Amino acid sequence: MNFFIKTFGCIQNTADSERIKAFYWNKGFIETDDWKKSDLVIINTCIIRESAENRVYGLINEIDKWNIKNNKNIKIVVTGCLAGLAHKDKTGKKLNQLKRDFPAVSEFLPIEKISFEIEPLRGKSAVALIPISFGCSNFCSYCIVPFAKGPEISRKMEDILNDIDKAVKDGFKQVMLIGQNVNSYGNDFTEATLVSMGKKRFKSLFPKLLEEVAKKDLEKISFVSSNPWDFSDELIETIAKYPNIDRLLHLPFQAGDDDVLKNMNRGYTSDEYLKLVEKIRSKIPDVRFSTDIIIGFPGEDEKAFENTVELCKKAKFEIAYINKYSPRKGTVSAKIYKDEIPMKEKKRRWNVLNDLINKK
Ligand code: SAH
Ligand code: SF4
Ligand code: F3S
Repeated sequence: MNFFIKTFGCIQNTADSERIKAFYWNKGFIETDDWKKSDLVIINTCIIRESAENRVYGLINEIDKWNIKNNKNIKIVVTGCLAGLAHKDKTGKKLNQLKRDFPAVSEFLPIEKISFEIEPLRGKSAVALIPISFGCSNFCSYCIVPFAKGPEISRKMEDILNDIDKAVKDGFKQVMLIGQNVNSYGNDFTEATLVSMGKKRFKSLFPKLLEEVAKKDLEKISFVSSNPWDFSDELIETIAKYPNIDRLLHLPFQAGDDDVLKNMNRGYTSDEYLKLVEKIRSKIPDVRFSTDIIIGFPGEDEKAFENTVELCKKAKFEIAYINKYSPRKGTVSAKIYKDEIPMKEKKRRWNVLNDLINKK
């Protein structure tokens, strides 16, 4: 029996797919790189924007049509965020709807079934991906992730360090620690102690974990994605202290206008974000930044967009992942705001920022 796996979405899904692969190999399946030659296609899905979700439906329909035309019976298993969203709806409505809409799918597999105990089958990359937490409890108003992946749950430090020891033994010199809020690692083990940038700050164990990892025989340790409100002084000190911690920090800011940020439920102001960037630069002179931006969020008028441009000019990002706002059903922003910025204008704004940051 052959299986083919298609992975959409973020680095979390890439890491999950490495365990899914191992799961099916352990069951006696062999991986193939052509879905037409497989008996089973696993689709690890992303639904962050409508376009991402549509790519998933497109692939399901393509396989279904091919099955019918060629009298084949390739099984389809859907996992990842689409399956997660359906299973987390306790009324069962979403799952039933999906089953009705896609009868060709034989199973919507919750990713939680693929335990962290399974040793991942790593790809050709020189970087070992190490998930340290799963899910997100932040509820940025536009974002589907908390509904699709559930609340943030941190893995035990001991398990993470064991995974890293294994990767080192296997010859890896680079690791990437991953989580939707990587620098709030351990929040769920403690009580909130103070408020930072409008968000409750818990005593994060991330600097401690990062330090333990940095002491290992590794050339480069990177981590994604960090949120500004959990970027503590302790974390900055830890990065400064260990030269094997990557100097390219991914620190999404999403928007440079304070009203937009507020409506996004991001907590911080553009000023607070810039002050944080400056503080990090002063303590870690060779630091560089990459970021995520959403353009065309409801209420982002010309002035608000200019504020985003201004922030970019001041922060001097090396790379930016620019996303056109896409309302996601079930999120707060989709409920209370109209998606009012025309696509043409979103494209224009996308180009402005892309020229400014990515085409230097
Ligand atoms: N946890 C990370 C981001 C995860 S999602 C963080 O908070 O930084 C990756 C990116 O997708 C986000 O940073 C955001 O820029 C984008 N995104 C999320 N929801 C979106 C939506 N509804 N429309 C457009 N872009 C979105
Ligand atoms: Fe989404 Fe916000 Fe969580 Fe990132 S922090 S995954 S943008 S809800
Ligand atoms: Fe997409 Fe899920 Fe990641 S929606 S961006 S794959 S967490």
